[in-house]
Amino acid sequence: MRAADIQDDLSEILVTEEQIREKLAELAQLVAADYEGKDLLLVGVLKGAVMVMADFARELPFHAPMDWMAVSSYGASTKSSGVVQIRKDLDTDLHGRHVLIVEDVIDSGLTLSWLLENFESRGAESLEVLALLRKPDAAKVHIDCKYVGFDIPNEFVVGYGLDYAERYRNLRDVAVLAPHVYS
Ligand code: PRP
Repeated sequence: MRAADIQDDLSEILVTEEQIREKLAELAQLVAADYEGKDLLLVGVLKGAVMVMADFARELPFHAPMDWMAVSSYGASTKSSGVVQIRKDLDTDLHGRHVLIVEDVIDSGLTLSWLLENFESRGAESLEVLALLRKPDAAKVHIDCKYVGFDIPNEFVVGYGLDYAERYRNLRDVAVLAPHVYS
């Protein structure tokens, strides 16, 4: 698919590459201040968080080890049920660690709600969440997210890690997917 055709699939650019870059730099300053002198572990949730992790981590002025978790839901109803299956577990023992979960988007909040509970039970010393995007109108559970990039409308967004059927993840901006693509 050519770049021009991809642009035809998007109805609106919601957050630009430049806005993302600036916001992640801002968030990294806050995180750097909050975790100064502490051993921070970044945990990215595959696959959507790959871009956020790559750009955010490089803004941090100290060592920030990374680990990755891959989770998925069972079938179409899973998102609403909140039942999560671990596809790839962490390699790191979280006991006594200061953990910052890095996410691309909080939609219903069910994935993070499950992850937070799961990580808590592993004995993390502290547990916080950074999400580039949050959809307040889609929330089914409240997530205490300390570092939020942008609150966005409850629309079908793609790009910068977010996909539709595994496509559009490599777009530089976050955009609203045109309804003709999925309807
Ligand atoms: C997305 C996103 C979050 C989750 C948020 O992942 O990366 O992990 O959904 O949705 P929620 O708040 O409603 O639980 P997805 O399951 O689409 O997998 P992906 O990251 O591999 O695209």
